[in-house]
Amino acid sequence: MTEIKGVGVLGCGLMGSGIAQVAAAAGYDTLVRDVSRDIWDRARAGIEKSLAKFVEKGKLTAAQRDAALKRLTFTTTTGDLARCDIVVEAVTEDLELKNALWQELDGRSAPATIFASNTSSLTIAAMAAATRRGDRFVGLHFFNPVPLMPLIEVVRTVTTSEETFRRAFAFAKSLGKEPVAAKDNSGFIVNLLLVPYLLDAIRAVEHGVASVPDIDKAMQLGCGYPMGPLTLLDLVGLDTTYRIAEIMFTEYREQRYAPPPLLKHMVIAGLNGRKSGKGFYDYSVDPPKLVALGI
Ligand code: 3HC
Repeated sequence: MTEIKGVGVLGCGLMGSGIAQVAAAAGYDTLVRDVSRDIWDRARAGIEKSLAKFVEKGKLTAAQRDAALKRLTFTTTTGDLARCDIVVEAVTEDLELKNALWQELDGRSAPATIFASNTSSLTIAAMAAATRRGDRFVGLHFFNPVPLMPLIEVVRTVTTSEETFRRAFAFAKSLGKEPVAAKDNSGFIVNLLLVPYLLDAIRAVEHGVASVPDIDKAMQLGCGYPMGPLTLLDLVGLDTTYRIAEIMFTEYREQRYAPPPLLKHMVIAGLNGRKSGKGFYDYSVDPPKLVALGI
């Protein structure tokens, strides 16, 4: 089995920067690609902040943090990732965009290089089929916040080879994560169950079942969830959730995946959650305060 030394990461938004951080912290030379250095500067500042928290808590030494930061490099040229042994893609949930990047890399990457998508809801086979390495294509689905959440869903398509699956599974473990095997169905395991729950929480707000903080409190205290569904939506991103719901609804044609109008309206208004400063809560103050929605 070819050893994985260099990791490429396509996209450094919320998920891509987290993936780059855990790869670098696990000892891999990590090359990140995005469209501008400004985006990378913001991502790198977030990575530095997160690593500083681990140092503060004694989970990393200052020397380990510095070594991890040294292993992180950035490029705006997709082709530069051709030298990596595995490329993990974490760009917007847009199949055309993803496939354009995969096709740009496919002809240049070494035969043994594994392509892995962090898609939340698109079918991995639809990306694998756009390349000539269907046998070396998997899904590696991480969870937000990537440095803290232990799970990775390792997704095998109908064409993924046994060796690729084993290498990807071992790679996920080497990041200090707990991999589980999942089939290539839209949403895999977690989003298949989580997305209807999150959308139902929005529907509960629409129907005036209870206030936003009380819905959150109820699920935290009644079910032992670490955060309520509306706080979790703010963390995941309302825009991201909207896109995932649209893809899953198109796939399954089941009402439970249909994005509720309130979600759409909040996304149109730019209330995307933590990353935009406001969603169901306003993060410009500490602790965050409730946003007054005109509904
Ligand atoms: N890096 C390093 N440390 C971090 C961090 C980060 N990015 N974010 C938070 N921390 C630290 C905090 O500083 C805090 O440290 P302390 O204990 O020393 O104060 C500690 O982690 C705990 O954080 P908080 O006190 O802010 O909050 P919580 O105790 O609630 O823990 C959480 C945070 C781990 C995010 C927890 O709330 C949780 O597990 N929430 C659920 C998240 C979840 O469900 N994620 C999955 C989303 S679905 C998904 O990603 C799939 C996609 O396809 C949609």
